[in-house]
Amino acid sequence: MKKHAYALGGAGLMLGVSLLAVQAQDLTGELPDPPEFSAQSEPTFVSVSDIQEYKALPEYHEPDWVTAKYVDAGTLPPVAERLPKEPLVFKTGNMPDGIGVYGDTMRHVIGGRPEGWNYTAGQNQGWGGIDIGLSECLTRTGPLFEVKADELEPLPNLAKSWEWSEDGHELTMHLIEGAKWSDGDPFDADDVMFYWNDAIMDSNVSPLNGGTPETFGVGTTLEALDPYTIKWTFKEVRPTQYLYAMAYGTFCPGPSHILKPQHPKYSDNTYEQFKNAFPPEYMNMPVMGAWVPVEYRPDDIVVMRRNPYYWKVDENGNQLPYLNEMHYRLSTWADRDVQAVAGSGDFSNLEQAESYVEALKRSAEDSAPARLQFGARTIGYALEFNLSANGWGEPDTRGQAIHELNRNLDFRKAVSIAIDRQRLGDSLVRGPFTAIYPGGLYAGTAFYDKASTVYYPYNLDAANALLDGIGLLDTDGNGVRNLPDGGADVEITLLANTDYATDTNLAEGVIAMMEPLGLRVIANFQAGTSRDDMQQAGQFDWHVRRQGAEMVSVVQGTTFLAPTGPQTSYFHRAGTDGTVDILPFEQELVDTVNTFVATSDNAERAELMKTFQHVFTENVYSVGLTQYPGALIINKRFANIPAGAPIFMFNWAEDNIIRERIYVPADQQGDYELHPETLPGAPGGAGPV
Ligand code: GLA
Repeated sequence: MKKHAYALGGAGLMLGVSLLAVQAQDLTGELPDPPEFSAQSEPTFVSVSDIQEYKALPEYHEPDWVTAKYVDAGTLPPVAERLPKEPLVFKTGNMPDGIGVYGDTMRHVIGGRPEGWNYTAGQNQGWGGIDIGLSECLTRTGPLFEVKADELEPLPNLAKSWEWSEDGHELTMHLIEGAKWSDGDPFDADDVMFYWNDAIMDSNVSPLNGGTPETFGVGTTLEALDPYTIKWTFKEVRPTQYLYAMAYGTFCPGPSHILKPQHPKYSDNTYEQFKNAFPPEYMNMPVMGAWVPVEYRPDDIVVMRRNPYYWKVDENGNQLPYLNEMHYRLSTWADRDVQAVAGSGDFSNLEQAESYVEALKRSAEDSAPARLQFGARTIGYALEFNLSANGWGEPDTRGQAIHELNRNLDFRKAVSIAIDRQRLGDSLVRGPFTAIYPGGLYAGTAFYDKASTVYYPYNLDAANALLDGIGLLDTDGNGVRNLPDGGADVEITLLANTDYATDTNLAEGVIAMMEPLGLRVIANFQAGTSRDDMQQAGQFDWHVRRQGAEMVSVVQGTTFLAPTGPQTSYFHRAGTDGTVDILPFEQELVDTVNTFVATSDNAERAELMKTFQHVFTENVYSVGLTQYPGALIINKRFANIPAGAPIFMFNWAEDNIIRERIYVPADQQGDYELHPETLPGAPGGAGPV
């Protein structure tokens, strides 16, 4: 690399001048409006009560083969006895193609690999909608993309209704009564309390998707009043925000009758043994979701069969789901796009911008087996700095020095303005897809405010001058800046996820753009699961990460927006002494988020998010890289796909499209079932029966 590429300058005099110039210079600039890219279909906006209700119906139905082979044979109770007193009923008026028919399979392809079935203890199931389908949660948010803005409130789910006390501190929730896990064991408050007491409140257990006490407010208590009634007590008054935290992925209880006997509090197991007690080979894990895992072949497939105890029905009393089987081919995320477009797979969230042009071309043909529909720009990436200087991740001397640099605003600013976002976006895909992302909340979400967004445009000279100014000079002339006082070369490790080409492409782009800034950035590219582990353990200096729902919806995943607790932030968690060494502007973010959570006043919330966005972007809390739209690809044979379903908003499309309601018309059904006319067997036992 060329030394003259940056403004270290020969003459001391010149250096002094350029430094002064930068200090006086306003580095902010006008944020260009994103290129016009209209979503290809709009949702039909409705009320929550238009989508579903809970009620008993005069009669219930199930696939004929279930009655013939199981009920008539005496191995399964009649459907009416398997359903709760009042099942969740999806209303026909909100089903785009109406009441469905039974049969067929949805063939997913995923890039993850299941660690095991213990979601409660933090194991992932390979993503791509497996865990979303297994986990039913107290409330539900995915379908909210089609709920009228002024009626926005999470959908009831396992909690069928709730009321607030007069003073607003207590929330009493009524659970569905008489629903059962997929093995027939009753679902009740024991399951909810096990999740609360022995996962959320037990600091040795970290459920998948990051539920912590802060997620529900410090000091919040939960108690069971009877098997179907639970009562929350909050410090805040009427914090309706927590209803969002009770949805996927932070309040989805697991089967306590299976999990509890393995938990260290009730057994001789260590926490590690508890976590690993249900490996991927463990079949028929009891779930409340519509399909149960019945077959696993490593690096090949996970197969799920319909849950005979599923507790949702259509208005004619047909027990859901309509689809008998779910496949999750264990491949790569890029292959998910390819197969969905080609018709050998059925579903994809098109989210890796590198494959957009090809996918669009092939889907435009009349004979294309799948439809492809773009939504808003809700996929976004940021470069995150590890902001802990008190030991999170146990950095060595080099790492510690970098973490301290990360805490310096001039350093973060220099990194940010050394990134040419336009070029970075174009390197993924040309055309109107990518937009310059200044960081913080995404443009196009309800809480975004352009005027509150501070944008520092690309300015390599100023970036170099900023680093000169904080004493990072190339003292040994090797083209890499040195730590102050003749220290070592500035070497930074960059964590990224190899499961996605986009993640590593963006990380490569960042690495290249840091070169003319005199920073040596070293790739630490890891497969998804180890990436997750390293991120959670704080073992990174920088991290390129696809961001979560908090940047899109704000109300979902809200506690991830700032270090509101010791384990809530993606890039700043508690150090060795258990405290977070929070910076003053982070405290402002924390206070803003906490106030946001505590109020239900919409005008106040909008103002709070303006403050959040301002403080976030002005301080380059993380470096926005690019944002772009995703597209839902789904095989044309599926019916009941809601209009305008985004691939990512409050949740991923796998939840948004309400898979339990999707069906394939009889004349279009494929012959894909691997285990036709079978149901899940006993927990831990061999496959389907
Ligand atoms: C992965 C995929 C997403 C989505 C989620 C669902 O993250 O990349 O498109 O399928 O899994 O959990």
